Amino acid sequence: MATERRETVGRTLLVAFVLCIVCSVVVAGAAVALKPMQTANKTLDRKRNILAAAGMLDAGVHGKAGIEQAFGRFDVRLVDLDSGEYAAQDVAARAEFAPGRFDPLLAARDPALSRALGESEDIAAIGRRERFTLVYLLHENDRLSRIVLPIRGYGLWSTLYGYLVLEGDASTVVGLAYYDQKETPGLGGEVDNPKWKALWPGKKVYDEAGRVAIHVVKGSVTAGDPQAAHKVDGLSGSTLTSNGVTNMLHFWLGEDGFGPFLARLRGGTG
Ligand SMILES: Cc1cc2nc3c(=O)[nH]c(=O)nc-3n(C[C@H](O)[C@H](O)[C@H](O)COP(=O)(O)O)c2cc1C
Repeated sequence: MATERRETVGRTLLVAFVLCIVCSVVVAGAAVALKPMQTANKTLDRKRNILAAAGMLDAGVHGKAGIEQAFGRFDVRLVDLDSGEYAAQDVAARAEFAPGRFDPLLAARDPALSRALGESEDIAAIGRRERFTLVYLLHENDRLSRIVLPIRGYGLWSTLYGYLVLEGDASTVVGLAYYDQKETPGLGGEVDNPKWKALWPGKKVYDEAGRVAIHVVKGSVTAGDPQAAHKVDGLSGSTLTSNGVTNMLHFWLGEDGFGPFLARLRGGTG
């Protein structure tokens, strides 16, 4: 008696097709289900980075609750970079600027919320600059004591993303920290080296005339240099990344960045 042939090309293709559908449903389902968790982790990570840059991530800050509590000390403000003013209330109340929802980096890609920079303006090589961004202010004893500014700019291989933290005088550096960069480990990647980062606190970003003066030098700052307050040692063998750091600081502290906002704070009208 002839037995029926169970394995046919049609059945093999059907099994492969059904398997593909099942796997895609599982993968898509996992991606959708995990999205809120990923977003929450990303937000928590951003808060952790801001606290670290501000030197507030000490041994007493533990886990999610600790980070949320420490971050809660910041006053998060929406700044209009064109005017240097805090965004008007009706603007800040718009749904797109809702806390936890607004992402200045995404805004920088949106033509309605950003503008393309001309070649001569774009010294940080970022292409577009968002109109509104977030700053994080810490007040202690009714006094502004920390100003956290998001910055970004091109190094040699990558755009470096980080935070520059200034004291309440809007001129003295508390710290500079990058949370995302793809420079070469051991060369440009030394922007993350704690020893190099330790060179920044106390540096003055503006000169007496209010011009951006901070810069990373090639080699070491000479002992006794009268301009030493504006200079930081270069990263060894990494002049191109070092120049990228200088350029992004000049952009974000200048007229097209936070210059007008910081000038207002220095003038006591913040
Ligand atoms: C594989 C490789 C990776 C490099 N990575 C970096 C880097 O991340 N940042 C940087 O400024 N220079 C990097 N350089 C070196 C630059 O090409 C350039 O020589 C250097 O920035 C010049 O700095 P110096 O004048 O201090 O030597 C790299 C070079 C090579 C060959």
